[in-house]
Formats: sequence, C-alpha cells, structure tokens
Amino acid sequence: MDEFSARLSRTLRQMYNQISECESGLLKPVAIDRGLTLLKKLGYPVSLLESLPPENFDHAFPLANPLTKIIELDPKTILDLGCGTALDLFLCTRLLPQLKHVYGIDASSGLLDKGRNRLKNIPEQTVGITLFEADLNQFSKYDINSVDLILMNGSFNLIHNKAKLFQTLSGLLNNAGQILIYDFLLTESLPPGFSDEIDNWLWNIGGALSAAELSEAVSSAGLEIISIDDLERIDPVARCQILIAKK
Ligand SMILES: C[S@@+](CC[C@H](N)C(=O)[O-])C[C@H]1O[C@@H](n2cnc3c(N)ncnc32)[C@H](O)[C@@H]1O
Repeated sequence: MDEFSARLSRTLRQMYNQISECESGLLKPVAIDRGLTLLKKLGYPVSLLESLPPENFDHAFPLANPLTKIIELDPKTILDLGCGTALDLFLCTRLLPQLKHVYGIDASSGLLDKGRNRLKNIPEQTVGITLFEADLNQFSKYDINSVDLILMNGSFNLIHNKAKLFQTLSGLLNNAGQILIYDFLLTESLPPGFSDEIDNWLWNIGGALSAAELSEAVSSAGLEIISIDDLERIDPVARCQILIAKK
C-alpha cells in the first residue's frame, strides 16, 4: 500500500472509531442532520425506522437511501463495503425476503461492534449477516463467495486507488452482478492541491472523481457504467447513484 493510502486509512479508521464511541453520534454540537432525522430526510421508509429502537440510527452515515434501488435489483446476496454499523444490510433483510446471505466490511471495529450488538438483540433474525473488519485500501480477496450486489453507500470516495478497487470488485461479482455506489461526483474541478490534503478526503470530497475519471477506472477493470443519477447538485459536486455491471 502506498504512503498516502496508508495515512488515509489510518486517519479514517481513527475518526470512525472515535465517532463510534460518541454516544449521540457525530458532531453533536454542529447543526447538521443526523440519526433518525437524516434517514427520514434521505427517504428511508419511516414505518420501518419507527419499528426499531432509535439508538440504531445514531451511528449511520449514509449518502442516500439505497433501499428502493436494491428492492428493484432483487439480489440474493449482498456485500456492503464500508458498511459502518451495517444498518443498510439489516434493513435489506427486513425488506427482501428472498435474500440468502449478506456480508459487510468496514475498517472501524467500533462501528462493526455496534452492528453486531444490534444483531445480538434481535434473536429472530433469520438471514445471515456476516461482518468483517478489513481495509478497502488493501483489499484483494476476502473469504466471500461471489455476490449479486456490491453496495458502497458513502465509502467509495474514501478509497485512494479506485481502479485497483474495481479490479478486486470485478472478481467478487457474479456474472450478472452489479455494483451500486452512492457518493459525490465532481461537477467542476477542485482547486489545485486540494486532493493532496488528507483532511479534504474525510468527508468524501477530496477523493471525488469526475464522471469521465469514473468511467476510465470502471472500464480498466472490465466493467461498465449502466447509469448515473444525480440526486442532488451541490457544486462542485453532485450526490449520485451509480450503477455498474460487468461488460
Ligand atoms: C460515510 S460512512 C458510511 C457508512 C455506512 N455505509 C452507512 O451508511 O452508515 C463511510 C464508512 O466507510 C468506512 N471506511 C472508510 N475507509 C475505509 C477503508 N479504507 N476500508 C474499510 N472501510 C472504510 C468508514 O469506517 C465508515 O464506516
């Protein structure tokens, strides 16, 4: 792993582990939406959220609600990379009765423990959820069979070498499998030197690609972009839903 990737991984792991220990979630004194308010604003199904204890939501940091798209794609197996507390996977097991198994990978042991505790408190859980701690900046092959869907909800822009990541993901996808990413794409160039600063990567902007750069990284791994949908435009970025498949 190169030096920048190693520093990025270390800084993000520390940051998310610290966040996992913070009782009321991230940035309590700052007036940004979080927890249940954030999830409702992003369009997560309110009745499902309200059927769960509110502490489930304090450590969720999604970029978007992926559930409507995942229901449409109808996967039997899902791998969530940068899953955090694995709330998306957990909600998928409630909404997709045909699911067989789901896997989550994250670098933060603190967030993964929150996810494991949630599962312990729900003994009637039937779909298997397996959570692994691993660093996606040095992710090659994991002990996972190939899957129908790979989800990255807010973690893609935190990975340094995206072309290399796509090569690994291609090997983890079933032939008809798809990759669903929620993250920012650039609508304008970032100021010179902006992406050299680790701090600018922490909230998903420093590592943002333009649509052309994304397309290049995707095709270098034998994959193709199926669709890019703008969910919100906040120049110099747009919050996007990106669907990718094998060529
Ligand atoms: C914006 S949060 C999204 C979390 C989750 N998808 C959600 O919706 O709550 C980004 C996540 O990516 C994880 N992450 C960042 N860099 C990582 C890396 N190199 N390897 C594995 N996970 C990483 C963080 O620990 C964090 O849980």
